[in-house]
Amino acid sequence: MRKRAEAFDRWIRTSFVEMNTELEELYFAQRDRARVIGVGDALKAQLRDEGRAHIVGLLQEGNTGDGFASAFGVLGNVGLYLGAMRRHELTNPAREERSPFPEASSLAMHVGASIGMVPRFATAHLTTHNMAVGGVRKSFTSLPDEFLFIDENTRGILAFQRAADALMRIVPLGISSPVNDGLFDAAKRALGDAIRANERLFTQLDVDRFFFCVRPYYKPYRIGRQEYRGANAGDFSGINEIDLLLGLCRANDPYYAQLLVDKMLFMLPQDQARLKECMTHRSLLDELLAVADASAGTAWFQQNARSFIEVCDLFARTATQHHDMLVKRFIEQPAGNLIEEDLQGITASGPPLPVLLRSLETLRDLRVAANRADLSTRCADLARLRGLLA
Ligand code: HEM
Repeated sequence: MRKRAEAFDRWIRTSFVEMNTELEELYFAQRDRARVIGVGDALKAQLRDEGRAHIVGLLQEGNTGDGFASAFGVLGNVGLYLGAMRRHELTNPAREERSPFPEASSLAMHVGASIGMVPRFATAHLTTHNMAVGGVRKSFTSLPDEFLFIDENTRGILAFQRAADALMRIVPLGISSPVNDGLFDAAKRALGDAIRANERLFTQLDVDRFFFCVRPYYKPYRIGRQEYRGANAGDFSGINEIDLLLGLCRANDPYYAQLLVDKMLFMLPQDQARLKECMTHRSLLDELLAVADASAGTAWFQQNARSFIEVCDLFARTATQHHDMLVKRFIEQPAGNLIEEDLQGITASGPPLPVLLRSLETLRDLRVAANRADLSTRCADLARLRGLLA
């Protein structure tokens, strides 16, 4: 990393975290914890100006040619800075037509375009590609609940990636291969890890700290004229690889295809490539159903279909946990206590909360293969497969 990029990174890991944490403590100590405007103004100005000085230097240097890791790091750091500016209401897309941070916008657009990602910080910056230094990973604040959130999201993502990787390896072997047993087992173990990460989030994360001090850094903000939705823990390809390989979601379903298109550039280039590849395969469910009439009585079919269904059941459990436990406890319930003005921009993607909740419910029901008259799920196909098991 070049000197300026290094200095910015150091600042992000130290003063930036300290000032954000101090501001969070000011907001959280108030009777109205959602109040941000007019609180800690001197500190906010210091945060804005110190960050800007680093960014102006980097922009003048105009160099993104130091390799992917360095460019990705700069993009993440500018993004964390802008995410904090949004959190502290120094920018708000609802009252502006363009970002009041032109230098940060230019730098973000230059670096983002050069590596093929959206010009904002992405989930990978704080999770799978969040390089720890001396045991400390990047974060907005040093609040224990933010570290818990980042760490369990990372563990969850890594677990889904392990499951996706195991399932993907079945494709070239074919659904009838006797060696699929180890791969299905690996997928099951990994999904068990994801379930445990969700449980830890549910039981250990403090609702108010998460809602008032962590979540607001993930709001949408503008870069240049364009508004970009916030990052969410789902911005990695592994979860969609599982959807598609299991056959629970289809890349030609208009709702699901839109979701994939929307999230593509929020993912790392290597994730984008994996997802594109995955879209070209026939799902394991379709593979099993295609030979069911001829092979249901064989030993390989019984074994692999059973393992396949066990994987589906575990995956369904993670989807139910996400919606019925995490989203409900940490977003829906606390949002119920807010006044209309504070509800704006509550989520990472920006639509009104009821619209977002309906969309997440649809995803849950696709992954659970629920029996819904208004939604085309794999409910009947999975029931048929279950019925074929001895
Ligand atoms: C406290 C914990 C969590 C909460 C409150 C939460 C909440 C949300 C919300 C509200 C969204 C919609 C995006 C938006 O805000 O606009 C979302 C999306 C998503 N989240 Fe989470 N989430 C949590 C943890 C996780 C974890 C640990 C994972 C998996 C590693 C995960 C996976 C996803 C996925 C995959 C999506 C995108 C939709 C999809 O493709 O399924 N979330 N989450």
